[in-house]
Amino acid sequence: MRLAVNVDHFATIRQARQGSEPDPVLVALLAEQAGAEGIVIHLRGDRRHIQERDLRLLREVVKTKLNLEMAASEEMKEIALRVKPDVVSLVPERREELTTEGGLSVKAAQTHLGPFIRGLQKAGVRVSIFVDPDPGQIRACAKVGVNLIEINTGKFADLKPGEVRDRALQEIKEAASLGHSLGLEVHAGHGLDYRNVAEIVALPEIVELSIGFSIVARAAIVGVVQAVAEMKALLEKSGK
Ligand code: PXP
Repeated sequence: MRLAVNVDHFATIRQARQGSEPDPVLVALLAEQAGAEGIVIHLRGDRRHIQERDLRLLREVVKTKLNLEMAASEEMKEIALRVKPDVVSLVPERREELTTEGGLSVKAAQTHLGPFIRGLQKAGVRVSIFVDPDPGQIRACAKVGVNLIEINTGKFADLKPGEVRDRALQEIKEAASLGHSLGLEVHAGHGLDYRNVAEIVALPEIVELSIGFSIVARAAIVGVVQAVAEMKALLEKSGK
């Protein structure tokens, strides 16, 4: 089970004063030293946290794997083709949202997504889709030509223990099995923290987690290296 660390919210802190610190590039290097197997950033249309400068520098210095989350827009496609991250993760984006609110509506956008994805793949960029644990959407991902998906764990993560949360976990479990049976590499993320991650780690088909906010929040208390190492240890417990 690999850990990819999303460093967006270090950039959020920097942008609060529009200065140069903390630098998400330094954080990414520290996260790699602490065992992260990938670095994730979301370049938003409104540039609220990550800037193009961060993307350029991270492309140069990240030694593991750079995953660029972005909307499937022409602006972002042009940037991705220029910078060539290892992976592009396609996410829906609404200007008013605090964070990504759900998976991409793949079924409804197949005609746009097909050529968009092929354009990136031809340039050597691997493409992933952030998708809700919905069987129809997972099948649409396979049809549209990706070989990688990230299942949205946000609904599960937001719920208190009980039947509804158990059902949300079951949906993730079934979505991961379906994705795997369709030949997709299955990742997961959103809202995962030091308490709830164990239940997702236990799912055999999921091979990578993308975790941001909880690590940034913990890093504010104990430092980046320790916060990443603690999360790494929880993932290693799975023995996967
Ligand atoms: N995966 C995707 C597609 C996301 O948009 C985000 C949030 O940027 C994450 C994972 C990480 O979520 P969190 O910050 O809640 O760990």
